[in-house]
Amino acid sequence: MKVVAINGSPRKDGNNAKCLEVIGKVLEKEGIDFEVVQPGARVHPCLACYHCLDNGTLRCIQNDDGVNEIIAKCIEADGIILASPVYHGGIAGNMKCVLDRLILAAGCGDNQLHHKVGAAMCTLRRSGGMETYQQLLGTMNAMEMVLVTSDYWNAVHGADAGEVEQDIEGLEVIEKLGRNIAWMLKVIDKAGIAPPETHHRTMTNFIR
Ligand SMILES: Cc1cc2nc3c(=O)[nH]c(=O)nc-3n(C[C@H](O)[C@H](O)[C@H](O)COP(=O)(O)O)c2cc1C
Repeated sequence: MKVVAINGSPRKDGNNAKCLEVIGKVLEKEGIDFEVVQPGARVHPCLACYHCLDNGTLRCIQNDDGVNEIIAKCIEADGIILASPVYHGGIAGNMKCVLDRLILAAGCGDNQLHHKVGAAMCTLRRSGGMETYQQLLGTMNAMEMVLVTSDYWNAVHGADAGEVEQDIEGLEVIEKLGRNIAWMLKVIDKAGIAPPETHHRTMTNFIR
């Protein structure tokens, strides 16, 4: 079993990285492979060309910024964690670029993400944690994923890199999230029950 985490922070070794380290330790102790991918700041936004959707390529036509590798890893994984810093009350811009392309290429046509285990977290200095957390959850919610939670909202406080280590409660919440992800993956694996059939929705756009 494998979990892939997308760290949407543009900076290396920041607060999201620290939190993901905590989750990684829990998962690895439970015998689950864990990989963090960090797209960085130099990722392109979605072009709205619909090439991925129209051709069912499960890839973005923009092939020069590492996002296709992230899409492929997410398709392969049993679980996905979305992590982002809070930027002006929402997810970081580069994370939005990645998610728009991931979801359009891998989720909106023949959904490759359905019934994968999903979890979200964010880090922040002070405000916007709930909005950002909900935004990340909402992405997976619309992909028919199995959402795992903790015993509080997964928003951990810290401004400068590493400051999340002082948010004892936040890190406990994150550690528990890791345990719950491992448990859910094992429950699904042990049950051995194929996920329910999924199919395309009838798309209406309120014009025609
Ligand atoms: C452009 C920018 C906007 C930010 N906006 C907010 C904000 O709206 N609310 C907040 O609490 N913190 C905000 N922060 C602080 C970051 O969310 C915080 O430092 C976070 O822990 C960084 O995570 P990282 O170390 O993984 O990059 C902002 C930081 C930057 C660089």
